[in-house]
Amino acid sequence: MSCLILIGMMGAGKTTVGKELARRRKVRFADCDQEIIARTGVSIPTIFEIEGEEGFRRRETQMMDELSQEPDIVIATGGGVVTTPANRGLMRERGVVVYLDVPPAVLYERTRHDRNRPLLQVDNPRQRIEELYRQRDPLYREVAHLIVEGGRGNPGTMVRMIENGL
Ligand code: S3P
Repeated sequence: MSCLILIGMMGAGKTTVGKELARRRKVRFADCDQEIIARTGVSIPTIFEIEGEEGFRRRETQMMDELSQEPDIVIATGGGVVTTPANRGLMRERGVVVYLDVPPAVLYERTRHDRNRPLLQVDNPRQRIEELYRQRDPLYREVAHLIVEGGRGNPGTMVRMIENGL
């Protein structure tokens, strides 16, 4: 079995859905951000503060390269993983890539009280989410083998849609 890679915006439910899929398939689950935190010993906002987004993207690319070499794993990526071109080819080659497509209004509701996402610490986070969605949705679609519409459906529904689609 090749690895299963979940992509999509911040707040799409990649971690929740990924954990459940891994449990059902009896394989390891890894969250790319959490792996970076474990390795560096600092939070994502701290990495952004010290190394900038560029430094974070380098760490993310390195971590994706490592994780995607494991055959029996479900990986929840960070929302910006597709903005690094090298990751796009790598993910498609090494795994089955699933895009969790959730509308910006829902993403905003889910992330509005979160302080752990540096890209959303702006005056108008709702507008930022819409911009990021517009930029990234075509990239997610280009990379994905399977697209699952999230809407307001609960994570369990998404898990079943993914299992049916694989
Ligand atoms: C980011 C998403 C975050 C995290 C970082 C950057 C992004 O992960 O990697 O804050 O660019 O969309 P989640 O998608 O898990 O929130």
